[in-house]
Amino acid sequence: WSSTTAKTDGVLSVGGVPLPDLVAEHGSPAYVLDEADFRARARAFRDAFADYDVFYAGKAFLCTTVVRWLAEEGLSLDVCSGGELTVAERGGFPMERIGFHGNNKTLGELERAVELGVGRVIVDSFHEVERLAAITTELGRTVGVMVRVTAGVEAHTHEYIATAHEDQKFGFSIASGDALEAVRRVHAAPGLRLLGLHSHIGSQIFDTSGFEVAARRVLALHAQVSEELGVEMPEMDLGGGFGIAYTTQDDPADPARLAAEMSTIVAHECRALGIAGPRLSIEPGRAIVGPSMCTVYEVGTVKEVALDGGLRRSYVSVDGGMSDNIRTALYDADYSATLASRPSEVGPLLARVVGKHCEAGDIVVKDEFLPGDVRPGDLVAVPGTGAYCRSMASNYNHALRPPVIGVRDGKTFTVLRRETEADLLATDVGAY
Ligand code: LLP
Repeated sequence: WSSTTAKTDGVLSVGGVPLPDLVAEHGSPAYVLDEADFRARARAFRDAFADYDVFYAGKAFLCTTVVRWLAEEGLSLDVCSGGELTVAERGGFPMERIGFHGNNKTLGELERAVELGVGRVIVDSFHEVERLAAITTELGRTVGVMVRVTAGVEAHTHEYIATAHEDQKFGFSIASGDALEAVRRVHAAPGLRLLGLHSHIGSQIFDTSGFEVAARRVLALHAQVSEELGVEMPEMDLGGGFGIAYTTQDDPADPARLAAEMSTIVAHECRALGIAGPRLSIEPGRAIVGPSMCTVYEVGTVKEVALDGGLRRSYVSVDGGMSDNIRTALYDADYSATLASRPSEVGPLLARVVGKHCEAGDIVVKDEFLPGDVRPGDLVAVPGTGAYCRSMASNYNHALRPPVIGVRDGKTFTVLRRETEADLLATDVGAY
């Protein structure tokens, strides 16, 4: 839950706004974004990593409001598509503080990035190095470049979000020599300013030993570049991926502890290698925005089923589902839920919070104990939905994507409005 979340007489409030009032005003389902909490987490990373640049990973959640908050809090921004770049531009974000990622950026996206003057493009293939070099020559411009490398680390996280082992699509392999060759080619291109190496080992990671191994391998390459090519790269990026607590069993990311650990690892390696050490940057997304949002749903139906061994489970159907949170279905992610609109004295019942989509895998929260009298009209809130929920939301079954409602000091403001059927029909041009 975000830091301003509180429950009084069974009613949950965020940012001083009781959720029943928020739903009465803005409808349900809705994502609720706690401004004070978001800013505090952004600041905590910026302050803990005071000697680093902190790039917020926009893929976790991006909109023009967040772009403005980030600019005000002094963070940098990682975007990974033309669309995210457009939101950053619309929000007035300083282009020199943007890093542009992606393993298959289009020619158009690369041209725009160079024209807009983004601070750095993180290159991810030899084809891209060639394309970017050609663009800078054609436009008579230069651009800062980082080389995305694969450190060969097995990060302990879901297979789909681990990115530093050899057999996946991202980065140049250090082990095969491709990474060194990429550095050579970037250095040789007149329009490309070689800034440094970039490594991102995966997401929702708690064990810092993966970062340690990656940092050691990337720094070794950094030193090799200096020795063999005589090139001192000024920067290095160690990516994002810091895990957050989705349920009470998880141990959340503490920026100060992370910063201390990572700085120690890097300083130690630099000493061992006898190098000065580059300016570091990191790219947290989830650890900033994840806990800052929750989703509030209205219960529509409740159904009890018998389980083996005489147990019962209640299926609590809410007015959203896999279209606003795909993470449970996609990564088997764990979430929790709570009754948010009234007190209940009734004992807990094993419940599964499910959506309204046409498939059985449409589960929001797999297992949760909710009061046995949960009924239609109740509000249920799910914490920790700030990262990769709205940003991965879909229109499956022609669902309308929910709004993002900001809360601050007892007031609400609409950050993203609810979609309408007119929005859906706008793309359906109907030719036949
Ligand atoms: N930097 C790079 C290069 C990345 O690819 C990512 C995430 C991040 C930073 C930010 O990672 P974070 O700090 O947010 O963990 N949809 C998945 C997560 C995919 C992450 C992709 N890259 C999920 O819902 O868990």
